[in-house]
Amino acid sequence: MTVPQIPRNDAARKQSSAPYLVPLLVGGLVAVALGVYGREHTPTGYAVGPAGFSGAQAMKSWLATGAFVLAIVQVISALAMYGKIPGLQAPPWTGTLHRWSGRLAFVLSVPVAFHCLYALGAQFDVPRVLVHSLLGTFFYGVFVAKMLSLPKRDLPGWTLPVLGGLAFTALTGLWLTSSFWFFTTFGITF
Ligand code: HEM
Repeated sequence: MTVPQIPRNDAARKQSSAPYLVPLLVGGLVAVALGVYGREHTPTGYAVGPAGFSGAQAMKSWLATGAFVLAIVQVISALAMYGKIPGLQAPPWTGTLHRWSGRLAFVLSVPVAFHCLYALGAQFDVPRVLVHSLLGTFFYGVFVAKMLSLPKRDLPGWTLPVLGGLAFTALTGLWLTSSFWFFTTFGITF
């Protein structure tokens, strides 16, 4: 008995298979992998050359602050691009500003997160550091999900704003649980 083939139109098939699923799954895997590595490997205590700063914490706190400021530029440029800032017609270079502030924020975060994960690992003994460690792995998961979603043309309209918003919220939490804590505990020092 031959099973009748039900004709399926591509649009229905695309909608049903949720084009954002793969980016979300890969992003989730990246977050879990970083978390497992952060918990399972023995922290090395590897000391980076603080490059003119008083120490690794100060250097990381300033790099993370740079990433946070660039992320704010990202949010403002995204709001302008989506026409959410009343009375502001986004200049033609807003897209470029958004892309490059995002890339630079990511690049500034990498050496910081490398030191966090490799030298310190994911630590759960202090609530501030537990939240920080979880947000760190979540941030890269969301970042990967957003980058994988960018080239996709069949995504629901909410996908990029939601992923962008989650990445910014995670980076804000990361900054508050590290740089802000450092500067309010030890002062604004280099
Ligand atoms: C990827 C996962 C991450 C893990 C597991 C992690 C973990 C940690 C841990 C355990 C500390 C030491 C906290 C302390 O004893 O005070 C730390 C410090 C720090 N982290 Fe992360 N972190 C991660 C990602 C990030 C990211 C993405 C940033 C910023 C972009 C960041 C910024 C900092 C800064 C500035 C410090 C030094 C200030 C401090 O000691 O709190 N971390 N991190």
